[in-house]
Parts: sequence; C-alpha cells; structure tokens
Amino acid sequence: MNTPAKRIAILTSGGDCAGLNAVIRAVVLRAETLNWEVIGIMDGTHGLLENPPHVMPLRMDNVDTVVMRQGGTILGTTNKGDPFAYPMPDGTLKDRSGEIIDAFKKLGCEALIGIGGDGSLAILSRLAKQGGFPLIGIPKTIDNDLGVTEMSVGFDTAVAVATEALDRLQPTAASHDRIMVLEVMGRDAGHIALTAGIAGGADVILIPEIPYSITNIAAHIKILRQRGRNFALVVVSEAVKTPDGDNVSQNFFGGQKRLGGIGHIIGAQIAEACQAETRVTVLGHVQRGGQPSAHDRLLASAFGVYAVNLIQKGQFDRMVAWHDRSVIDVSIADAIKHYQCVEKDGTLVKTARGLGICLGDETPLK
Ligand code: F6P
Repeated sequence: MNTPAKRIAILTSGGDCAGLNAVIRAVVLRAETLNWEVIGIMDGTHGLLENPPHVMPLRMDNVDTVVMRQGGTILGTTNKGDPFAYPMPDGTLKDRSGEIIDAFKKLGCEALIGIGGDGSLAILSRLAKQGGFPLIGIPKTIDNDLGVTEMSVGFDTAVAVATEALDRLQPTAASHDRIMVLEVMGRDAGHIALTAGIAGGADVILIPEIPYSITNIAAHIKILRQRGRNFALVVVSEAVKTPDGDNVSQNFFGGQKRLGGIGHIIGAQIAEACQAETRVTVLGHVQRGGQPSAHDRLLASAFGVYAVNLIQKGQFDRMVAWHDRSVIDVSIADAIKHYQCVEKDGTLVKTARGLGICLGDETPLK
C-alpha cells in the first residue's frame, strides 16, 4: 500500500445506539478510496486521557463485512466525564481539556470525525475550537432530538424494537383482558413513543410534550371497552411527568441519575381508574442494542461518506444532516442550538389523533 496521503481520527461519544459501527465502516471505506489512514479513538475522548492514548488503526479488513451488522460501537463510548469538568477520584472536578487536545495533536491527524448527540457534539466542538483542530460531526441518538437533521443514526432501530415490543404485547394483552403499558426511552422528547406507538397500534401514547390526565385515558379505554375491545396498549415516554408534575428517575452507580419508572406510576393509576388488570414493561436499553435496521445502515453509510468528503473539501466545524431525501451539512453550532421535541401540531401528532389514539389531553373517540 502507498504511504497514506492523510490521517484522520474518529470517535463515538455519548450513549451507544445501533448503526455506529456502520458509520465507522463507511468512514473507513471512503477514506481508503482516497488512500487515507483512519485512527479510532477508544471510549470517546477518554481514550485520549490514557497514556499512551488508547487508539486503534481502522482498516477495511477490520471494519468491513461483520462489524457494520453489529450493534454497539467497536470503539467504545461514554456518556459521562465531561473533559471540562472531569470527575477526579478525590471527588473534585478538573478541566482536562488541555490534556485531550495535546494527546489528539500528537496523533498527527488532520481532522476528527465525532459521532455523537447534542451533548457530545457541544463538548467536541468546544475542544476543537480551543485546540484549533478541524472537526466534523455525525448525528446519532435513539432520541432523535437533534435539531436540523430529520433523522439521527439509531432512531429507526429503536423505533423498530419498540414497535416489535407492542407486536409482542398485543396478543398477551388480548389473551388476558389486560392493559399493557410500555415505557420507552427518548429523554425529553417523545419521538420514540409517538412513532412506535403509531406503528405498533397503541391506543394511548403519552409524550412529555403533551400534558395528560388519567381521567382522559380512563375515559378513552372505557369507550374502547364499550366497543368490544378487551385489552389496551399504552405507550409512555420516559420523561412524561407524574400527575404532580415531577420526572421519575433512578439513581445509578457513581451518582448518575437517569429517567425511568414513570410507566409503573401511570400503570398503577390506570389500573385503579379502569378497574383493570394492568402490566408494565420498561423497554430500557434493549432499544439501543441489536442489529441496526436497513434504514440506519443507509443513513450511517451516507453520513460517513459525506463526512469524509467534507474533510477532502477542507470544510470543517460542520455536522452532516438528513434533509429532504439528501445529506446536507450545517454548522455544528446551528445543529445543537435547537432541542428537537415533538411538534404538537406536527404530522405525527395529527396522524395519531386522526387514528383515534388518545394522547392524554382528550378522548378522541365519541
Ligand atoms: O440518550 C439516549 C438514552 O438512551 C436516553 O433515551 C436515556 O434516557 C439515556 O440515554 C440512558 O442513559 P444510560 O445509558 O446512561 O442509562
């Protein structure tokens, strides 16, 4: 092989999702067509805090064929440890951005491709500005809450998993005359709940963007029963608040707090209000793993190729985005400034209402 014309680096950051390996593959394959070398940085920016930096050379022979079909990320990732306020063993927070920038510069790479959500891209962009190195962002998040891009890598697979869960819950619900509550992820945006709820034939979909009342939900289920239905499917997004207006979260090792558990509270209230057997499934990280869907692989491939093309053209500080059946690029600052919630008068909300699905704020059936 000829001496590589250029060396670039890539890392995955934030929560993993299906399709990350397909992005890595696309970047490596496109780079190889240009005779460029690709270095993978392990565990997000944390790999650059190790001595020596934890990196791996990425070549067609180690990323093609099998890897792109796999969930997770071969580079590892992290959604904790902000380099600007890094938690140290003694409990203090330290700015370690300088160490990361120095380590990156020593790798001799001409640009960095960061695959991440809004939080990761904000951190990477700050590092790139401080260190004066070129950065390209690729959006990934099951939550699909990044503005500008219509789709982020990982969302489609998460929706498919949640839809399959509803397909599996429906027959058992019908067999036992039960109300099934499915809690899905999504952080502060209800995209997974709304999309999977419509695709999976839910009767009630609760999302953080639309306030609900248990009275409306119970009235809706009552009408369904009067029409002969012996079961109901309810999808609840993890950031839906309790009737008292609080988020429900769990504490994890290391003081990390994550949304989760609202499904059980709503399930108990629906059981009481409807006087019905109710069961709750919290889908959790199942939505992040597994094989990426065909659509996520396509998005990943298109984003990866386009990202390398941007570097070839010398255009930096850009995030690739899906818009109107094409890949475009936008400034990272523009991409992360807007948190993309579900639009209350958007097509999917109108579709759900048109199908007679209860969104908690009214009973659409008369
Ligand atoms: O942002 C992706 C996401 O899966 C959210 O939907 C969820 O709230 C969170 O990450 C879970 O984080 P963790 O993997 O740290 O439990």
